[in-house]
Amino acid sequence: MATREERRIVRPDMIHLLMQAKKGTLQGDENAMNNGTSKKPKWDDDDMAAQVMLFFLAGFDAASTLLCFTAHQLATHPDIQSRLQEEIDTTLDKDRGKLTYEAVQTMKYLDMVVSETLRIYPPAVLMDRRCVKTYMLPTDPRFTLKPRDVVWVPIYALHHDPDYFPDPEKFDPERFSDENKGNIKNFTYLPFGSGPRNCIGNRFALMESKIALVQLLSSFNFRVVSKTPIPIQITKKALTMTVDGGFWLGLEHRSLCTWALVTGLTLLVTYLVGTWTHNHFTTQNVPSLKPLPFLGNMAPVVFRVLSFPDFAVDMYNRLKGYKYGGVFQFMYPTLLLRDPELIKMVTVKDFEHFLDHQAPISEEAEPLFGKALFNLKGQRWKDMRSTLSPAFTSSKMRNMFVLITECGKHLGDFLEKCIKDKKVPMKDLFTRYTNDVIATSAFGIGCDSLNNPKNEFYEMGKTVTNFRGVRALIFFGYMMSPKLMKLLHIKFMSSSVVNFFRALVHNTMATREERGIVRPDMIHLLMQAKKGTLQGDENAATNGTKWDDDDMAAQVVLFFLAGFDTASTLLCFAAHQLATHPDIQSRLQEEIDMTLDKDGGKLTYEAVQTMKYLDMVVSETLRIYPPAVLIDRRCVKTYTLPTEPRFTLKPGDVVWVPIYALHHDPDYFPDPEKFDPERFSDENKGNIKNFTYLPFGSGPRNCIGNRFALMESKIALVQLLSRFNFRVVSKTPIPIQITKKGFNMTVDGGFWLGLEHRVKQ
Ligand code: HEM
Repeated sequence: MATREERRIVRPDMIHLLMQAKKGTLQGDENAMNNGTSKKPKWDDDDMAAQVMLFFLAGFDAASTLLCFTAHQLATHPDIQSRLQEEIDTTLDKDRGKLTYEAVQTMKYLDMVVSETLRIYPPAVLMDRRCVKTYMLPTDPRFTLKPRDVVWVPIYALHHDPDYFPDPEKFDPERFSDENKGNIKNFTYLPFGSGPRNCIGNRFALMESKIALVQLLSSFNFRVVSKTPIPIQITKKALTMTVDGGFWLGLEHRSLCTWALVTGLTLLVTYLVGTWTHNHFTTQNVPSLKPLPFLGNMAPVVFRVLSFPDFAVDMYNRLKGYKYGGVFQFMYPTLLLRDPELIKMVTVKDFEHFLDHQAPISEEAEPLFGKALFNLKGQRWKDMRSTLSPAFTSSKMRNMFVLITECGKHLGDFLEKCIKDKKVPMKDLFTRYTNDVIATSAFGIGCDSLNNPKNEFYEMGKTVTNFRGVRALIFFGYMMSPKLMKLLHIKFMSSSVVNFFRALVHNTMATREERGIVRPDMIHLLMQAKKGTLQGDENAATNGTKWDDDDMAAQVVLFFLAGFDTASTLLCFAAHQLATHPDIQSRLQEEIDMTLDKDGGKLTYEAVQTMKYLDMVVSETLRIYPPAVLIDRRCVKTYTLPTEPRFTLKPGDVVWVPIYALHHDPDYFPDPEKFDPERFSDENKGNIKNFTYLPFGSGPRNCIGNRFALMESKIALVQLLSRFNFRVVSKTPIPIQITKKGFNMTVDGGFWLGLEHRVKQ
């Protein structure tokens, strides 16, 4: 006061009013102040200080109590909080984010919320009046109050009386809406007391509380946290309206909350997208494996928990007892066929309904991949298959035999040099062999990748057939969403590989054309097909289909893809089995020696066909380690499976034939992990149930290179076993653990074997 007096400071606050009152110059509601008497009251400094203290006492705790309970109610009633925030946002928006006195008065919902809080938690539980003049209560029983007698008005109890406020513990701001507040009985809602002696700071308290709420709720949300007292227990330790332990609440930025909402919504949408196919089988009562969002049943492969073959066996075993069952290839519902009869129906008898492979990589996304025979669809597949089939007849095999035997001899000669190294990485050497075989027999290109380790043909073949690491991820990507991969321009084959094969086919064809070279190989057949002069199965082949350079190059890439890795895989496993089963190796060598001896040491096409034990060994290797773990078919015409439960496949639906799992089913192959070529002896092979042994697939869409693969593998084995023994060395992987790093049927660390010269008796 002294400072203000001295410096003539005027502020519209209570100190100013008190100063005026002291001086007797207070303007305004004079009547109330001096009670209408002409005699002006005198106020000393203590009178002033007492009022100031009261303002603290009354304003300090009561308003903060109101704010605490309001915040608590809002945190525990997020719907009410959101509605209030909407009102606050709209109001602030109107005044460009500025809060005005008038704006606070217009906020009806804010008022309703604050009023309801004051009802449930009135900071003043009771108010009292002291009788100053004798007074008889105007009710029955009549009661006379004398001066100094005290009355209590039970504010809290009235506010919680269900006769006045139904369901009184419920926080319901609607009680104070314009429509409802008229129903509140007079003098039952008295948070600020009543009459002339009511709370003088009433408006002040409401204003400061509302301002605080507006400011906070415009930026934050109140949230329940672990320390938030629920339910509220008013303390028994004091007369104040508070709780023991404190009013703990969480605060979060509303922008963060919007972010959390957006994230939540995104997650929800993602989840719905990732699971939208999940009831595909259950709605039709088809047994199926429980899928995960997006990953379906592929998680064990994606996270490298199981190798691809073990994964296939796991699915197959989990559906034991059923002829077929649903599995999820990521998000694609796929029918796993377990029953050999059904496999026959789908792949042979009713083949026209299942003409295509699933082929996730389309022609548009990757022409050299999508246009390859394996991925071609419908009539285009039929046309190309007829075009290429003549290249794989037995007469063509016979023609190629000499070329391939040369490659086999070459391999033997090369291994001669490796013998001193004690251990040999068989996969690399066999792949170089299959590379040279395909280069010479299909394209007339003499390749010596054994002596030229950096041979371009071999390098390209390796790149194309690598389904591990990043390429496995890209392949997963195509399996999950081919459209997305295309949209993101993620290519499965690098442009250097694509350009190499395009140039190879183009240049080879140009040279042959130019020089009039005719060779009985695949390039020649493709050239004829391109010109429309192909002879042979004319009807199918020249069905009016036009083939361009990419169509040609695509088949070339496919021969690498299909032949390069599969046949070398077969050779690796065969060599490994022979090294670990020396008795079988010896017996096979006996057969080889006898056959070669008959023809004076020369290997002929016919001789290879007569080697029964060789065939048994190769067949048994293909049983235990089929390079193709699964094959698929895509339904092209609606088809109802002729079994119980009946299930109708629609165009686009995919089925899987679990080759590896069938080959390892003890019901079909007792003691399935045992390497036992006798299963394929003349006496025993008749016992193998049809459609349980399918290393080259089944039906018209089976492996076109079947004969070729067997021939090149057998030639290599004969060439090597006639000169060497395969031996186990310290680096030989025993037992064999198929890799978990991709789809390739191979082992981590390599197929290491020892080679030793044979000592012939
Ligand atoms: C041991 C070696 C091989 C194995 C185990 C093997 C296995 C398979 C399998 C299981 C299929 C799918 C069949 C189906 O869906 O029913 C297939 C398709 C195919 N294979 Fe082989 N394959 C081998 C070697 C070769 C070779 C050396 C070539 C070519 C020179 C080749 C060319 C093809 C082609 C072009 C297809 C696609 C056929 C089509 O869709 O019409 N394969 N192979």
